[in-house]
Amino acid sequence: MPRPFALASLFLLSLTSAASALSSCVAFDANWNLIAFNFGGKDYNAGTQDNWNSANPTDITAQGRPPFDGPNVSCYLSQFTNAIYVLGADSSNPTAVYLYDAAAKSWSTQSVKADDGNKFDPTNFGAILDHDTNVFYAYSKGELFSLDMELLKAASSTTKQWMDVQTVPWDASSYEPTMALAQNHVHFLGVPGVPAGSAKIFVIHFSFMQPEPQSYGQFPNTHGQVTSFFKDEGVQTQFAFIPDDGSATYVIDVTSNTTQSLKAPSAKDSKATYFASTNALVQLSSSGSVAYLPFDAQTADKSGADWVAITKLPTASASSASGSGSGASPSGTAGTSSGSSGSAGSTHDNGALTSPFADRWVWSVVGLLTGFALF
Ligand SMILES: *[C@@H]1O[C@H](CO)[C@@H](O)[C@H](O)[C@H]1NC(C)=O
Ligand SMILES: *[C@@H]1O[C@H](CO)[C@@H](O)[C@H](O)[C@H]1NC(C)=O
Repeated sequence: MPRPFALASLFLLSLTSAASALSSCVAFDANWNLIAFNFGGKDYNAGTQDNWNSANPTDITAQGRPPFDGPNVSCYLSQFTNAIYVLGADSSNPTAVYLYDAAAKSWSTQSVKADDGNKFDPTNFGAILDHDTNVFYAYSKGELFSLDMELLKAASSTTKQWMDVQTVPWDASSYEPTMALAQNHVHFLGVPGVPAGSAKIFVIHFSFMQPEPQSYGQFPNTHGQVTSFFKDEGVQTQFAFIPDDGSATYVIDVTSNTTQSLKAPSAKDSKATYFASTNALVQLSSSGSVAYLPFDAQTADKSGADWVAITKLPTASASSASGSGSGASPSGTAGTSSGSSGSAGSTHDNGALTSPFADRWVWSVVGLLTGFALF
């Protein structure tokens, strides 16, 4: 009787993937303080790199923050304005852009609508924020869009709109965006038909997709996560690429056209997200733990650096808790299990049980039991 079992497995599978996404992100402000959004229902400033494993993060949870109830939160630093833009953090208003003014520690909500053709899908896109123009470029379902954030660190009262830029010139039917910003160019990785070690380039200033891919050395032509290393001044010229299999951390330098292969993250996690400062690449894993790879732009051979867990932050969880109060306790809850599960669970670098993982565990057991019962 394989069918009921297969059905139960499908059921299990869907629950598993539904519970795996985090509603959190990490980002840097323009002074390279690490900001952790929605960690146990709160937001934290973990300070600069020298503080990450010595000082306690500061609770910066403030009014007007997004509900953080969407599964695909993404964060972007506007370096000129020292604001962090948060997308996908409000499921009831999926196109809204939340602005966190890092100096004023305040939030505002920018009303944004899709393009006139309504092709931009706020639940399915990848994006970069262009350093020099402060314009977002987003890929959604084969189409490239832009959204001008002017020099906003607080929302404008005028509703903004995504603009349709162009259709990408490749078979986009199964393309999931892997997009990085460097030298005012959007780099698309994993594009079908492009040789390994190469990227398709969209030149922002000319709104022009280069017909020939640019070669940068050696990395696989696959989907992964990307984030650009900032500089204290000027546009980013290097970005990190971590393929979904987590097999390496590639750093692509678009000035020398070369790629270095650095240590792979300890957590091999296709759902992890990343954010880089000038000196570190930070990983937020899908189980809510945070780690970083030190990065010295001045050192020619960076291959010696290894990943370090950041243990002072509480666990990021798929919490839909909004605003203040009721969320999990901030830090140091090592060894405590979260809520309902009570049974065996998984610990990670923070030593705390993460609730997405706990949920997944519980449902997995239920699914398995159901499967066996039917079988
Ligand atoms: C989240 O991202 C996944 C993978 O891209 C996508 O399938 C899903 O529709 C997204 N959901 C929302 C609500 O954004
Ligand atoms: C990198 O490639 C571009 C485009 O092919 C070229 O113009 C540039 O000179 C190359 N840079 C170096 C350092 O070789």
